[in-house]
Amino acid sequence: MGSGYGYGKVILFNEHFVVYGIPAIASAIDKKTVAEVKRCDGKEFIIHDNRPATPNYKEEKIEHQRESIMRIKKAMGIDECIEIWLHGDLRASSGIGASAASCASIARAISDEFDLNLDDEEINEIAYEGEKAYHGNPSGIDNTCATFGGLVWFIKGKGMERLKIGEAVEIVMGDTGIVANTKKAVEGVRERREKFRDKYDKIFSKAEEIVYEAKESLISANWKKVGELMDKNHEILQQIEVSCNELDFLVEVAREKGAYGAKMTGGGLGGYMVALTPGKELQEKVATAIEKEGFYALRAKIGI
Ligand code: MEV
Repeated sequence: MGSGYGYGKVILFNEHFVVYGIPAIASAIDKKTVAEVKRCDGKEFIIHDNRPATPNYKEEKIEHQRESIMRIKKAMGIDECIEIWLHGDLRASSGIGASAASCASIARAISDEFDLNLDDEEINEIAYEGEKAYHGNPSGIDNTCATFGGLVWFIKGKGMERLKIGEAVEIVMGDTGIVANTKKAVEGVRERREKFRDKYDKIFSKAEEIVYEAKESLISANWKKVGELMDKNHEILQQIEVSCNELDFLVEVAREKGAYGAKMTGGGLGGYMVALTPGKELQEKVATAIEKEGFYALRAKIGI
């Protein structure tokens, strides 16, 4: 039996803009998907998906998951039937890198079961292949976080640079409970950008400005500034129409309770938002407020 893991992630700056080569900042979170794999009789694969999940997530992603596993097997040159068990403490939901975490975990578990001894670079490439089933043409940011962990500065096609912060910092991630389709969200931005090119060019320049300032602020642990920049990032994500009422509502709830900043995270149109809440006390206050409104709140840390 082979086993492997992949981290969940939170995009702190510039989801969507990253698809167009603008830098983004993301962090793995201290929650993972774990996979176990063993050879078995049969065709293709058998899966036991025991991950905790947002209702309907697994059902809605079943076809993507199937295609993803077939892509991973192909990329790894595995023809035999395999039995896969998925579990771990990362909730399978939209916006938290669940698909990338499962791809990285499965690739690692296959590598282990078949003694392929693949290194992290190779696992990352295979996870990227698997991600295509969920995302179409992903930037690669999710599989990079899922595979390597840590806080990263990421540019599509150029890869990542690790950002060092002194200590891991508390965040809260609020789940709208809406299972979203990242492929659709990305396509929507592409269509609107073609139609309203001038407007979008201005927004994209703003995204670039924000992320360079955010990098400096993160490195110097200036959390007030990081929070302000997250608010600004949310505003431009609203402008490119990838937020939704539920995300905006949870962002407001978090800000009212004292979060340093809050924004949607990931593909949007549902899924998660993230609030920066340094310190256990503030984290608890914001998480409890989100729960009181009837939503799931995840207490996590960035920069692990
Ligand atoms: C999804 O987690 C992030 C997007 O920027 C898509 C991508 O980067 O591939 C929306």
